[in-house]
Amino acid sequence: MKTSLVILKNSVGGFPQLLDEVESILTPHFYSALNTDNINVVEALYVQYEELVVPLLKIEDNKVFIFYCSSQHSSYYNYIFDIMMDAQSRGAILIPSLDHLKSHENKFYQELYKARLTIPTPKSWLLGSIEDIAYLVRSGLDFPVIAKLPQGFGSKTVSKINSLEDLLDYSRTHLTPTVKPRKNIFKYKKSLKKYKDKYPTNTGSIVLQEFIPQQTHDWKVLVIGNKVFSLKRYTRDNDFRASGSGNFSGDELPSLELVDFAYNVKQKLKTPWVSMDIIESPRGYLIIEYQCIHFGPYTVTSSKQHYLLEDNSWRLVKAPAIYEEELATSLISTIRGESSELAVK
Ligand SMILES: Nc1ncnc2c1ncn2[C@@H]1O[C@H](COP(=O)(O)OP(=O)(O)O)[C@@H](O)[C@H]1O
Ligand SMILES: [Mg+2]
Repeated sequence: MKTSLVILKNSVGGFPQLLDEVESILTPHFYSALNTDNINVVEALYVQYEELVVPLLKIEDNKVFIFYCSSQHSSYYNYIFDIMMDAQSRGAILIPSLDHLKSHENKFYQELYKARLTIPTPKSWLLGSIEDIAYLVRSGLDFPVIAKLPQGFGSKTVSKINSLEDLLDYSRTHLTPTVKPRKNIFKYKKSLKKYKDKYPTNTGSIVLQEFIPQQTHDWKVLVIGNKVFSLKRYTRDNDFRASGSGNFSGDELPSLELVDFAYNVKQKLKTPWVSMDIIESPRGYLIIEYQCIHFGPYTVTSSKQHYLLEDNSWRLVKAPAIYEEELATSLISTIRGESSELAVK
């Protein structure tokens, strides 16, 4: 059995995963850590998928891994998703997996996926239209709750909802009306009447979440391979939200319990790397959000120390790390782990 690694780049040849959307991780550091003995490496642009990648996927006895990037622009993301879905259907092993691409900037899907993998999360309710609210309230939804949209960062769409009226307001603001408002009020009211009670009037995706009170901070934890990097992020004054506060510290060490928790979640997600937002609750640690693709690497690039899993225990390494090198190393060890004929070497 042969093994190929396709590195799929965007159409200007970049592979964004650094802090800036336009920077590429494909630096000399990346390539020097990429030990590709016995692996056929093919670099291709997305636009060359049918020309260069599909033929590889047709070769018998050839295991094809695809390392690819995503985009935070939804129009480009949709294009990438369609291609990666096709590649998976043709037998490619995607790194990260298609579920992780689906989870990118999608807190809605993340809740479904966390539940499927039994990853600890605040209790959540998923809402698809304003009409769903009545059902959720009848079946025990209690206030306050946290509301958030699938996409967004820096706490921008995250709100504390204290009452039914607040929730209706949040939904009216963030869901899309199915009947387009018209200048002619008479015609508009007529079409509203026609649809009412037959079709949902405001649709979209909202995540409602049990409010975990008394948070002074959360933890941004990046696990790459067997290394754990963390950043303690304090909440803003008089605000429960930590993400986007700009008030964080990489000097404070997480407990080993938290390090274990983060590593176990990474194992459950079956991913070589993951970025997570973690908070503490009376029920233990909970995953607020995770990203396995296109996450900010600041936690690693700014780190002066990290935990390394060695002989089943955690060793504190007091040294900076090179992000691209860490990605390349764990990418290759994932491929070797999956290709046992190579792992024997
Ligand atoms: N269910 C919750 N209970 C309490 N605090 C929460 C909850 N969900 C999010 N937060 C707080 O809000 C911040 C932003 O939430 P998050 O879902 O990570 O959105 P964003 O993508 O904008 O960072 C988190 O860093 C956390 O401090
Ligand atoms: Mg977050």
